[in-house]
Amino acid sequence: HVLKEGSDLHFIEQQLMERLPVSHVKVVPGDGDESPDDVKTLLGKEAAKIMTSFYQEDPVVTVTGGSTMAKVADYMQPVDGVKPTFVPARGGLGDQHEYQANSICVQMATRANGDYRLLYVPDSIGEELHAKMQQEPTILDVLQLMNRADIVIHGIGDAQTMARRRRASDDTMKKIVDDEAVGESFGYYFDKNGKTVHRANSIGLAIDNLKERSQIITVAGGASKRDAISAYLKWGESDVLVIDEAIAHHLLQEY
Ligand code: G3H
Repeated sequence: HVLKEGSDLHFIEQQLMERLPVSHVKVVPGDGDESPDDVKTLLGKEAAKIMTSFYQEDPVVTVTGGSTMAKVADYMQPVDGVKPTFVPARGGLGDQHEYQANSICVQMATRANGDYRLLYVPDSIGEELHAKMQQEPTILDVLQLMNRADIVIHGIGDAQTMARRRRASDDTMKKIVDDEAVGESFGYYFDKNGKTVHRANSIGLAIDNLKERSQIITVAGGASKRDAISAYLKWGESDVLVIDEAIAHHLLQEY
């Protein structure tokens, strides 16, 4: 049975690689909504392995937050002669501490024998203050580093789930519902056509032309993220998808 399962998944991966604008797809068995811990563990292991396969000399790795990324951090391992530096993609998105990109950077660096740089910019402050902070030398330094990332690794969330988890204001919540945001990544909320509906924090990774600068690894599982992932593929860019079976079947139907 295990063998059959493996070859089925392999077939699905091949199909998705032919149809999607990505260079690699890894599918793990299961549905992340039904068995979150098992599926996130598998996703984390695979994503950590793929990340290290992209290592070049002392790479800069930019990471987002979330429980899926936290699992990736759990499975990071040191690689001989390589000292990666981990940088958060955004300054703080109101997630609980262990899901913050900053915390995940620390975890990754600890397990990978690397370094980290952190960015503390709360998302609750206004645009004006954000603009000012962006000129602060210490913040500028981290921004420059994250924007020359060799590798970007990120999660994707269902828009309303993420807004609720981050205790978005009533206004923000209304915008997300009214403008029909379905997905969230890097603090951006987007609709099914890939249009940005709301941006949570203006200080962070410049997401334009990301693929030209970095290898992008997208990690997500769970049937409830189906629409979010389809929308992400229109909104953003990815080189490698690490997904579960539930998402994979959905993408096969859609593409
Ligand atoms: O931006 C996406 C979210 O951080 C994903 O969170 O991995 O806990 O579902 P999650």
